[in-house]
Amino acid sequence: MEPPATLDQLVADASARIAASPSLGDLRGVEGELLGRGSTIADARAGLRDLGPDERRTMGRLVNQATAVVTEAITARRIELEREETAARLAGDAVDVTLPGRSMVPGTLHVIRQVMDEIVDIFVSLGYTVATGPEAETDWYNFTALNFKPDHPARAETDTLYLDYGDTAEGVLLRTHTSPMQARYMEQHQPPVHLVVPGRVFRRDPLDPTHSPVFHQIEGLAVDSDITFADLKGTLTHFAREFLGPDLTTKFLPHYFPFTEPSAEMHVLYRGAWLELLGCGMVHPAVFEHVGYEPKQVTGFAFGMGADRMAMVRHGVTDIRHLFDPDLRILMQYR
Ligand code: DAH
Repeated sequence: MEPPATLDQLVADASARIAASPSLGDLRGVEGELLGRGSTIADARAGLRDLGPDERRTMGRLVNQATAVVTEAITARRIELEREETAARLAGDAVDVTLPGRSMVPGTLHVIRQVMDEIVDIFVSLGYTVATGPEAETDWYNFTALNFKPDHPARAETDTLYLDYGDTAEGVLLRTHTSPMQARYMEQHQPPVHLVVPGRVFRRDPLDPTHSPVFHQIEGLAVDSDITFADLKGTLTHFAREFLGPDLTTKFLPHYFPFTEPSAEMHVLYRGAWLELLGCGMVHPAVFEHVGYEPKQVTGFAFGMGADRMAMVRHGVTDIRHLFDPDLRILMQYR
């Protein structure tokens, strides 16, 4: 049995160890060593049963006192450490409300998308339907159905990007214009047709100030039993005035496209200069035949315009490459 002096000594040492415990984890370890199984206090308590009644009472009181002092010291140190750890965590989590905020710049649609939407909306308000078609297109829809002859230069590999699809009977290519949707749509719908087709198109052109291998078009098609070139002129002049200004002058110059006859280019007098805006014409009877329409019973006009070009005209952009520049300092100017 330990003499009381040892217990006193133990309590003094214990208090010092407890006070010096640097963290809650350490304190738990110290607590186990001082009060747990095999500790001097636990052994002294176990030894009480071997003592006579008087000694047991005296020793019992001393052991209880020592236990109480050590327990109290541990509790006090625990409260202290918890307070310190909470304070440290709060200091680490603190938000400096005086820092300048990070403002969110609201996103916008790309200028080309905005202009395409605007153009499509003008035709939708005239009763036109909107459809889109595949970017990977067959030779038939991109060329043959549109009356391109087998040796037409646009079919050359130097102009058109062909896709390697292995053993397909037909050539598969990246569409060079949105016109194939004229044929696809007429195959699926009977006249009257009033259609606009916005979309991405591809040509084997190197990137320069006026060309991009990927660009955007909006195709239009109107087919009914008695549509005339006057309808074409009226509709497209209305469009140009809605898009560029109410007093705009337009003129139609003869041109050639395989799928329209006669064909024309519409030019507009814009800010003092004549500007070519789009291609157009009366749908060629061969196209009607290819889609299963009876050429004697229908007439129609078609048109196609470059959306990128329209965006450039609208925003005074002089180099098409600016439109595809990912630098927001450039793109944000055209909102
Ligand atoms: N597809 C022509 C091109 O990409 C544009 C065009 C011209 C479309 C006349 C038409 C049209 O529908 O009638 O150059």
